[in-house]
Amino acid sequence: MKEYIVAVAGATGAVGKEMIEVLEEFNIPVKKLVPLASANSVGKKIEWRGQEIAVKELTETVFKEEGIEIALFSAGGSVSAKYAPHAASAGAVVIDNTSYFRMQEDVPLVVPEVNKEDIKEWKKTGIIANPNCSTIQMVTALKPLDELFDIERIDIATYQATSGAGMQAMEELVDQMKKFFEFKLDGYKPQKFVHQIALNLIPQIDSFLDTGYTKEEMKMVNETQKIMHKNMQISATCVRVPVLRGHSEAITIRCKKPVDANAARAALAKADAVVVEDEPMKSIYPMPLNASGKNDTFVGRIRVDNFDPKILHLWIVADNLRVGAATNAVRIAKEWIKMQEGN
Ligand code: A2P
Repeated sequence: MKEYIVAVAGATGAVGKEMIEVLEEFNIPVKKLVPLASANSVGKKIEWRGQEIAVKELTETVFKEEGIEIALFSAGGSVSAKYAPHAASAGAVVIDNTSYFRMQEDVPLVVPEVNKEDIKEWKKTGIIANPNCSTIQMVTALKPLDELFDIERIDIATYQATSGAGMQAMEELVDQMKKFFEFKLDGYKPQKFVHQIALNLIPQIDSFLDTGYTKEEMKMVNETQKIMHKNMQISATCVRVPVLRGHSEAITIRCKKPVDANAARAALAKADAVVVEDEPMKSIYPMPLNASGKNDTFVGRIRVDNFDPKILHLWIVADNLRVGAATNAVRIAKEWIKMQEGN
């Protein structure tokens, strides 16, 4: 099997580090790994297959110079906007974790468990977009339910971990907790969040639009419709919670057909990369601590609505850095490689 020269742009970040771990864990045929970050990180060491390799600076020319064939980007939207086209024009397939290209019509937006056939569109721009973390885990669990019950509306409340906002945001939570126990939290100015996140919930992720929704909430609407190729009604309330890793979602789906909790459990149990944890009498249900570091989406609390036989409620949890970012990007790379091999 051919081996590929792979770059990770944002290699020192929360998602970039996971990307490198998952590339190794999934045995992706990598001939050479090129970790890229800002000039500040040049020379920092990254562990790869038991060896240390030095971080290089992300520049417009590095992709050509290094002969990069697969470029995973997770260094922020403006960085992707500037550098991803250079990677693509140097011949690499770009798998971009930011929101920058997601809704561009000629860029496929892919969750392999849901719409891997869209990967073939990569040739149009050289770029494949990785969806928003909250969207990935939701569509992974909803795809088998849509096949069963034909979903017409989705209502969501998310409980999103601080790592979704990067490494410094995780540090901000830990720092605030420490200061709380030292009675030094008074007057503390948050940097990454608009309010104190320790011992709090913030019902705002990203900025607000005139409609009263945030950009994060509209990502869940627009991206879900694009990935599932279906214009179902969707409304989300996205909330930041003082959790380090693992996004949770309380989801209500209204379907065209009557729903059945046992049939839902059976379909989810068979689905790729989904694990059913649904024994509430034994207090077994998905939780972020248990999902942390895993590559599966966990589903539980599956129940039919008290009043409407076409409504199902469920609780979905996944590691946002893995399932919601790095693992999905690496799964896209794996499928793209299969496609090159003609399998
Ligand atoms: P660096 O560590 O050199 O700043 P996180 O999402 O955890 O905050 O990580 C962001 C990642 O994106 C880091 O690897 C960071 O590198 C990288 N990054 C941010 N801005 C740039 C930039 N202008 N050029 C290259 N890499 C960048």
